[in-house]
Amino acid sequence: GAANIGVVGLAVMGANLARNLASREGNTVAVFNRSHGRTEALVNEFPEAGFVPAATYAEFAASLSRPRTAILMVQAGAATDATIDALAEVFEPGDIIVDGGNAYFPDTIRRERALRERGFNFVGVGISGGEEGALNGPSIMPGGSDEAWTTLGPILESIAAVAEGEPCVTHVGHDGAGHFVKMVHNGIEYADMQLIAEAYDLIRRGTGKSPAEIAEIFAEWNTGELESYLVEITAEVLRQVDAETGAPLVDVILDQAGAKGTGAWTVQTALSLGVPVSGIAEATFARSLSSQAAQRQAAQALPGPDESFTVADEAAFIEDVRQALYASKIVAYSQGFDEIRAGAAEYNWNIDLGAVSRLWRAGCIIRAQFLNRIADAFADDEALTLLMAAPYFADALANSQSAWRRVVIAATQAGIPSPAFSSSLAYYDGLRADRLPAALVQGQRDFFGAHTYRRVDREGSFHTLWSGDRTEIQA
Ligand code: 6PG
Repeated sequence: GAANIGVVGLAVMGANLARNLASREGNTVAVFNRSHGRTEALVNEFPEAGFVPAATYAEFAASLSRPRTAILMVQAGAATDATIDALAEVFEPGDIIVDGGNAYFPDTIRRERALRERGFNFVGVGISGGEEGALNGPSIMPGGSDEAWTTLGPILESIAAVAEGEPCVTHVGHDGAGHFVKMVHNGIEYADMQLIAEAYDLIRRGTGKSPAEIAEIFAEWNTGELESYLVEITAEVLRQVDAETGAPLVDVILDQAGAKGTGAWTVQTALSLGVPVSGIAEATFARSLSSQAAQRQAAQALPGPDESFTVADEAAFIEDVRQALYASKIVAYSQGFDEIRAGAAEYNWNIDLGAVSRLWRAGCIIRAQFLNRIADAFADDEALTLLMAAPYFADALANSQSAWRRVVIAATQAGIPSPAFSSSLAYYDGLRADRLPAALVQGQRDFFGAHTYRRVDREGSFHTLWSGDRTEIQA
């Protein structure tokens, strides 16, 4: 066949990725979609792309040079399995099947193993950047084998976003590592979004500023240490006026946040690994809470604080919120990197956290100026135990912690929910604590279940004979 790469699944993400591939020197792109109409439409709309359309899987396979390399851009789950099965029918051992969807990483591990046994190279690749990124340069997180990377690497490097001259793509680890890292990316994305939303809500309710005025605040923040894609688009969304009613669009959008599941996976996985990603979890739960229409209705009668919320010094309050946002953001990334470290240990992936921070600097949804500081932190100390304790971030937290506390206090007193701000602060204080009441929890566990405890002053496991004479025995 004439094409060196193929794309299966031509919805927006797939179509844009195919166009991106076709725009790069040396690529000829075969395209296939289950309903052929979409393939024809794409080929007709972009004749300059020189797509090689296929009407059947067999035609698709025949149009590709060997080793055949196909990127699947279909829905995660059953549709992905069905497409893989169909491709495996017409492909041959040595060919490379790439899943570019938001697959759940255990599925990727399973698929990789099954396909490896049949001689195929299966590569789960996390791709971030939405429609625009797919077209102009996404951030790409590939897993899979070293062998597949040899063929696939240059192709992915050619289409990825570029940060500081480096393509935003790294072979992050074997089998499911790429999708794992993409999953955590999305968890951080949820946290970032929720934190920004809380900042907006506090400013609006504290100062009475309009969404358009708050848009200006975010635009201003976007010129400083908070500079990021999500802050930038927040200003855009807040500025938008509804054509029908003339009201700010944000006021006519139903306040029930959706989720396709990647945030929940991040949290579920973190729970299994025992990694406290509390900020990410609160952000995920905040979406669930917003969508609990019946419970929200039932809670309408519950009382809030008596005093109304007024901010004495608006400018000072807004600056406090900015600092609370920055501090909480540091926590979200610190938690996310902890989860990647724990996942790598659990699944035997050799993930370079510094490389991950670098490939998130451009192209993806969480791209931010701030990721350069994270990259610096890992460059200074490859074995960094805790991102938020790296000198730069420790300093930033030292500078912002008072403001952060004032904001959480104000929100609490005003009855304004700030789950991500406040849980991030609790995490910060939890890790910093010299002693935690976990000691008491251990005592309780030992009391009712003889679960034993360890002592601060000597090795071993101990149990107190609670229902006996309450002496301590070595367990
Ligand atoms: C990205 C996004 C992308 C998608 C999210 C949305 O990195 O490009 O994360 O993958 O927009 O999955 O997720 P929710 O629908 O769950 O908000």
